[in-house]
Amino acid sequence: MVNKKPALRRLFALAAASSGLAALTLLVGCNDSSTLDQQILAGGVATYSTTHLTRFDLPAPTLTDGEKADFYAGRALAHQPWVKAPTSTTARDGLGPLFNARSCLGCHIEGGRGTLPADDTEAVFTAFVRLSIPGEEPQLGSVPEPTYGQQIQTQATGLMAQLGLPPGPDDLKPEADLRIDWQYHSHTYPDGSVVELRKPQLDLRQLSDGALHPDTLFSLRQAPGMFGTGLIAAIKQADIDALADPSDTNKDGISGRVNQVWSASEQTMVPGRFGWKANRPDLEVTVAAAFADDIGISNPLFPSQPCTRAQLLCQQQPNGNNSDGFEIPADLLELVVEFLRHTGAPAARLTEKHNAGQMAFNLAGCQQCHEPSFTTSENAPASHLAGQRIWPYSDFLLHDMGPLLADERPDFQATGSEWRTAPLWGIGLQKTVGADLSLLHDGRARSVEEAILWHGGEAAKARALFEAMSADTRRQLIAFVEAL
Ligand code: HEC
Ligand code: HEC
Repeated sequence: MVNKKPALRRLFALAAASSGLAALTLLVGCNDSSTLDQQILAGGVATYSTTHLTRFDLPAPTLTDGEKADFYAGRALAHQPWVKAPTSTTARDGLGPLFNARSCLGCHIEGGRGTLPADDTEAVFTAFVRLSIPGEEPQLGSVPEPTYGQQIQTQATGLMAQLGLPPGPDDLKPEADLRIDWQYHSHTYPDGSVVELRKPQLDLRQLSDGALHPDTLFSLRQAPGMFGTGLIAAIKQADIDALADPSDTNKDGISGRVNQVWSASEQTMVPGRFGWKANRPDLEVTVAAAFADDIGISNPLFPSQPCTRAQLLCQQQPNGNNSDGFEIPADLLELVVEFLRHTGAPAARLTEKHNAGQMAFNLAGCQQCHEPSFTTSENAPASHLAGQRIWPYSDFLLHDMGPLLADERPDFQATGSEWRTAPLWGIGLQKTVGADLSLLHDGRARSVEEAILWHGGEAAKARALFEAMSADTRRQLIAFVEAL
């Protein structure tokens, strides 16, 4: 075998010299090719190949026949468009009456992230706006806006709304037409190079039931990736807790907190893990809440229709409930959970040439929050999820990201400026799969570079170190992230 190490050492030396960070390189110590090799199997045995990739919601390659059957049945349910009740196909009616999309894949494009419109001539489809007013509501995590509830639903089952025509007085209307006005500004690096950044301004048109409460808080959230979710669920809570440092006792400027959220299945407060503010505890609750809030499908965990007490016309619409009072029963809900549990994670496209980028990533301190790897629990519910070394690049903790990223809307214990570290695996494949890149919780960043430049608060130091690097080193760092 050829020894690659001398060549790699030369690469590091070059990278370090070009960014003036040679001294630090010695402190950070060894990065050798073996770590890059290990990372290629980003999801352990649940890693799928990315050659000819057209979608992210692919099965882990080692599923048993039984797991495969559940995966494909669940994936079909996640893809299937729901229809308005009543219909003869009772298995998939009950859409809405207010909703954001007809299927999970309507927002999670090919199982990946959503994408936001380039300007206000197009309505927003793969993102939604959560609403609340100040105050505390332990089970919902925030107090719903009194008329519109916790989420603006931009579609309705009313016939005129379906036809895209102006509604009559008895026709159920969408709660609003959601548009985004992007506000642009230039960002200048210390070396003089300039990048254009954009920030969303919400434009809620044609509100169906009058004005919003004057103190309404808004949170625009776009759909994150929906893969590797079973692996994320299989990380031991103790391993995440071990990374938390709520009062920054080690004084590195980075705290990291676990959100505590209500679990509709366990009927108690538990640590949060999914969602942009770690506001959902586990896959069951995440899926059940998505059915109820995003598609308007009632289920055993969330049995209500998406109508508030103020929305009489909405309440009067027929529902698709079965004899137990649910539009999707527990066994079908579980199939969608099984589908998510058995999705794999994409293989990293890392080669020796990414060593310099990985070193720059560590020098900037990105890995302080984007924790490279975990070993999943031995007690995970399937063998391909158990005891796997995985590389999601997130600590799944909340961090204060400063005022520029803040939405000022609390979610359980997350403050208006705290966000969960976004996992980075698969980030560079989004374009391969055909969607424009829309990064960060509200999709404002069109590239990895833009995403980094929005980092503030606890991540301000990492951003500043990134900005101070030479253009070459910045490119190497970005290329490394895009190969994860
Ligand atoms: C209207 C768009 C939309 C639809 C439809 C939708 N989602 Fe989502 N999904 C989102 C958004 C936005 C988030 C982030 C929510 C948050 O921060 O609370 C999300 C979060 C998730 C997550 C958490 C991922 C993570 O890494 O934290 C999973 C899993 C998920 N959705 C699965 C589903 C499933 C299954 C369905 C269908 C039953 C579905 N979604 C329907 C937009 C959507
Ligand atoms: C203090 C913790 C912290 C540090 C340090 C940090 N990040 Fe992040 N990162 C986050 C959080 C939290 C988010 C999600 C923010 C949001 O959505 O508003 C995020 C989001 C991202 C995203 C967008 C991911 C997506 O799916 O939208 C990228 C890319 C990223 N970080 C790269 C980096 C790089 C590169 C560095 C080092 C220069 C870095 N981060 C340093 C916490 C951190």
